[in-house]
This record gives sequence, C-alpha cells and structure tokens, in this order.
Amino acid sequence: MPYKPDQLLISPDPDRLFLECAQNIVEYANECVKLRGLFSIALAGGSTPQRLYQQLSSQPLAEQMPWKSCQFYFGDERMVAHDHSDSNYAMAKQALFDRAPVPADNVHPIPTDCAQAQDCADKYQQQLAATPSLDLVLLGMGADGHTASLFPGTDILSEQQKDVAAVYVDKLAAWRISLTYPCINRSKRVIVLAQGEGKAAIVEEILRGDKPEVYPLTRVRPKGQLIWHLDRDACPHSSDT
Ligand code: 6PG
Repeated sequence: MPYKPDQLLISPDPDRLFLECAQNIVEYANECVKLRGLFSIALAGGSTPQRLYQQLSSQPLAEQMPWKSCQFYFGDERMVAHDHSDSNYAMAKQALFDRAPVPADNVHPIPTDCAQAQDCADKYQQQLAATPSLDLVLLGMGADGHTASLFPGTDILSEQQKDVAAVYVDKLAAWRISLTYPCINRSKRVIVLAQGEGKAAIVEEILRGDKPEVYPLTRVRPKGQLIWHLDRDACPHSSDT
C-alpha cells in the first residue's frame, strides 16, 4: 500500500522550499495561538532545516511570528554538549534563537549532560509532559529512511510507552535522544522536509510503500495532518509534473 502524506507540497527550488515552508509555519503558528494562545513545535535537526530557521527569523516573516507564544522543543539530539558543532540545539541557536525575540524560557533543549543517555531522555519526557500533544513536529529524512533518531534496526522503533527515549545507533557508534512514535504520532501536524537530489531515491522508495518495515519514516502517521514538503530535486524523476 503506497505511503501517502495528506499533502505532498513540491517547491521548484531550495529557496522557494524554505520560504514557502516558513510561510506555512507562520500561518499555522498564528492559527494555533489564536485558537489556544500557544504554539508548540519540535524542531528537526541535521542540516536541511537550517535555512528554514533562517527564513523564519528573517524579515518579513520574523515580524509575523508570535514568538512570545511559541514553545520550542526538539525532535532529537546528539549526546554532545550544546555548544558542540554536532549539536542540533547549537544549529537552531545560531539559525533561529540568536536572530529572533524568543524568550529563553520558551526554548527547551534536550539535556545531554547526564551520565546515561536514558536519564537525559527521562528528564526531557518530564519537560515535554507540559505539552500533551505538540502542535507541530518538524522532521527531516535520512537517506536510509530514518527520521529524528528513529534509525532502521534500532530498539526505539518498538517503543510504545515512552515519549522520549535514548537509542544507541551502531552505524554512528553514538547515542542519540529522540521523540518516539507515540509522541510524534500524537501531534496535530507533522511536516517532513526534504531537499536535494540526494533524497530523491529514498523519497521514491517510501512513497512506493512496498517496504514499510524497512523505512522508519513510513510509521510516522500523526493523529493530525502529515505534510511532506520537498523541492523538485528531491522528487522522484518519474513524477516530473
Ligand atoms: C539529526 C536529524 C535527522 C535528520 C536527517 C536528515 O539529528 O540528524 O534529526 O533525523 O533530519 O538525518 O539530515 P539532513 O537534513 O542533514 O540531510
């Protein structure tokens, strides 16, 4: 059965992808704040979303974002210090928080200073308890079909109780902390962002849907809306429309 997002948005090039995705987030954030006085978002890590965060914190969008009513969480984190070059928090701080008027109390980095990674995950689970279901979870897409730190063949894929868990990723020889499927799939909206021809093969594989057990991203089926936002280079050539 093909894996079908509720919306498959395709932008013609990277600049338009990040601008249009940022515009969508601003619009949705204002809707949530108007409805409930709050907008909670879990940010994606990796390299792709950096330009999205820069768009969000640049004019004209920066003055449209309800920054003081936004609560910023993270979808996953590497077990490194928050000023390490591999840190997802460090990337978001540089691309977003240092450029926008976000109150410090509204930013919730995943702790990475515990002796055991699972202790940090447990601490984050408690912080996240303040937000029973996130308004938006931003996700990237790895070339192996992972998302957040839900990597193929790892124990976290079968976690059904915890909202946050530690996972040891053999191929990276590193611990990660990640939101789990129960948490992600409880969210009101998920946006999966993919850019560049390096993602075209995995996009095609996943949308074909014939190996759902292989690619962790195919088990992201949120209670709310699932939106995939790609640029044309990330689209399978067969869908040149
Ligand atoms: C991480 C991310 C991860 C990322 C994908 C895509 O911590 O690395 O959360 O899930 O989104 O690996 O990474 P790129 O955007 O760098 O291709």
